[in-house]
Amino acid sequence: MIESPIILTFQRRASLATGGIVLLCSQVCCGAVRSDPFSPTNIFSPASPPAHAIANLAYFVLLITAAIFATVFGLIIYVVAKYRRRPNDDGKEPPQVYGSNAVETAWTVVPIIVVVVLSLVTARVIHQIQEVPKPPGAVDVQIIGHQFWWEIRYPKYGVVTANEIHVPVGSAAEPRPTFLELRSADVAHSFWVPRLAGKTNLIPNRVNTMWIEPERAGVYLGQCAEYCGTQHALMLIRVYADDPDAFDRWIKGQQQYAEPNAIGAAGRELFQANACINCHTVNGIGGAGRFGPDLTHLMSRATLGSGATENTQENLRAWIMQPDHFKPGVLMPAMNLSDSDLDNVVRYLLTLK
Ligand code: CUA
Repeated sequence: MIESPIILTFQRRASLATGGIVLLCSQVCCGAVRSDPFSPTNIFSPASPPAHAIANLAYFVLLITAAIFATVFGLIIYVVAKYRRRPNDDGKEPPQVYGSNAVETAWTVVPIIVVVVLSLVTARVIHQIQEVPKPPGAVDVQIIGHQFWWEIRYPKYGVVTANEIHVPVGSAAEPRPTFLELRSADVAHSFWVPRLAGKTNLIPNRVNTMWIEPERAGVYLGQCAEYCGTQHALMLIRVYADDPDAFDRWIKGQQQYAEPNAIGAAGRELFQANACINCHTVNGIGGAGRFGPDLTHLMSRATLGSGATENTQENLRAWIMQPDHFKPGVLMPAMNLSDSDLDNVVRYLLTLK
């Protein structure tokens, strides 16, 4: 299906607007529960140039809509108060007015102007963000959406990982943006890390692009923002913004393969002999499964199942035994291993640092 740029721009804009409103509502409604104004997903705490542009646009839209709200409710309150029923009313119907060109023109033209202004300003922000040229030092990352996890590839560095993205911090003096190429292996997903940029869909048979450039080191949380199936809600993203040196160290670490060692030997054989290897890649032991996350550096990640649970030894064991205990509807089957096989596989996975 071919979609025109206008429709896509409109979809992006619409998705930006509704997403912002939903997040805003959720932040206002859940204020009592989650009061930290700098929570990792706060849309009012941008930390990357595209997120700043979007936050400024959101303030502008809020200002205009707040003015409309105040005007309409001000007039309603004024009329209700001024023309309320009083004890000495004569009970007759007031004069009925029908048709006023001045009034009808005003309430048609003013909203049109408001909508046109909001559309133009929004189009300008989208254009500004999309037209930024890629500088020579930019980092390229390919992200492929799967039900229900993120495959992450750094083609220049030969690094593949999942669900947790490392990018360098950039600044005006030393720009180091990360350009993302977004694809899908199955259905439509949407990449959204609110503090870093707007959301962009990952659509089958199409490549979308976006860029981020965190200003401060830290972890930025995000989430799939397009309903993609049972576990859409547990398709979480963690973006680690590293200082440039730390980022280079991380890349170097990811380029090494785990040394085979005696502790993991039995588990590695089980891993290769069972279906594990059909879906998961571990560099250096053969097999190139891409249906599930690359496990070459599994233990360098903080979470399992795309943020479903913490990556600890107990959780890893429980995950392999029964993945849908953590994530009902997950596409990884329970492996039905015996207790001792399970222990050996876990022992092996723990060596993948
Ligand atoms: Cu992937 Cu929702």
